[in-house]
Amino acid sequence: YVAEIDASDTEKGTYPHFMLKEIDEQPFVIRKIIQEYQDKNDTIKLDNDIRKAMQKADRIYIIAAGTSYHAGLVGKQFIERLANIPVEVHIASEFSYNMPLLSENPLFIFISQSGETADSRSVLVQTKALGHPALTLTNVPGSTLSREADYTLHLHAGPEIAVASTKAYTAQIAVLAILAVDSARAKGINLSFDPLQELAIVSSAMETLTDQKEEFERIAKDMFETTRNAFFIGRGVDYFVVQEAALKLKEISYIQAEGFAGGELKHGTIALIEDGTPVIAISTQENVNLSIRGNVQEVAARGANTCVVSMKGFENDSDQFVLPQVHELLTPLVSVIPMQLLAYYAALHRDCDVDKPRNLAKSVTVE
Ligand code: AGP
Repeated sequence: YVAEIDASDTEKGTYPHFMLKEIDEQPFVIRKIIQEYQDKNDTIKLDNDIRKAMQKADRIYIIAAGTSYHAGLVGKQFIERLANIPVEVHIASEFSYNMPLLSENPLFIFISQSGETADSRSVLVQTKALGHPALTLTNVPGSTLSREADYTLHLHAGPEIAVASTKAYTAQIAVLAILAVDSARAKGINLSFDPLQELAIVSSAMETLTDQKEEFERIAKDMFETTRNAFFIGRGVDYFVVQEAALKLKEISYIQAEGFAGGELKHGTIALIEDGTPVIAISTQENVNLSIRGNVQEVAARGANTCVVSMKGFENDSDQFVLPQVHELLTPLVSVIPMQLLAYYAALHRDCDVDKPRNLAKSVTVE
């Protein structure tokens, strides 16, 4: 299927499922985000009030649910490493104001594709009642979380119809990277990292991945066709992506899946590994590459059916898939694509309802 790259329409076109179409739209969405957040002299275009709110913040609380929470974990890395602002990321339903706010000037960032998630909104209501500023990143301007926040950043991903979020997740990460760099520059921090240029490279890398669906369909059949469970392992930012990978697989193929920190295996979870247990490892970070490969050897020694997704530059011949190289901060934008496609093909081959998985709604508007 050649992606009809028109992120505004709500039809499947030639696609069998909205999810596959939305996976294919991701390169387009990244280019749209570059266009929307770039001003005429190729610098970042961002609402000045948001720029000021970020400058004033001495601590940031990211509040989100599900896939948006996983995007928030990546966003924390950007904001702390680039803008030097401490960040806490909280699952909306677990956030409580009973804990002390460790700052004089907190800024609350709500990440929500739909802008209607009740868990997130209830935190926003409390945040506003306490007089704290709130910024919402959403794909739906005019949504509740957008209207009730002080500021909104639009994801420009176009309507996301499939229950399993894909293009909104990568859009959230792209916008968070732009926000973090803009905040760093406003604080006079000089960065060599130019998100708009690097995102253009990511967009091309995404296109090469979405052109290799047969490869991911083959791996999915091998790893998931008959299994009851599956594990994803990663370290550093790859650990955040493997949590998203597990959620994708769980919610559309109903396979019990978990994303682990590679270093945690020896603290208990390796007891789960049996002969044939599927274990997918993501390795895109030079500094932890050898450690995660050591984890792969540990599980393989216990009979696991392993699959390593690595990145060009430090791949091994035994890796099942090597991702095109992108900036080390933006690797989640490419490493997640194989995870989305593995989940899609696992669900497809298990005759699950890919776009409307059982028991799930696209937007959880009840707490
Ligand atoms: C993601 O694939 C799920 N559909 C779900 O976890 C979703 O991310 C979560 O409900 C949050 O939704 P939101 O981004 O609209 O707030």
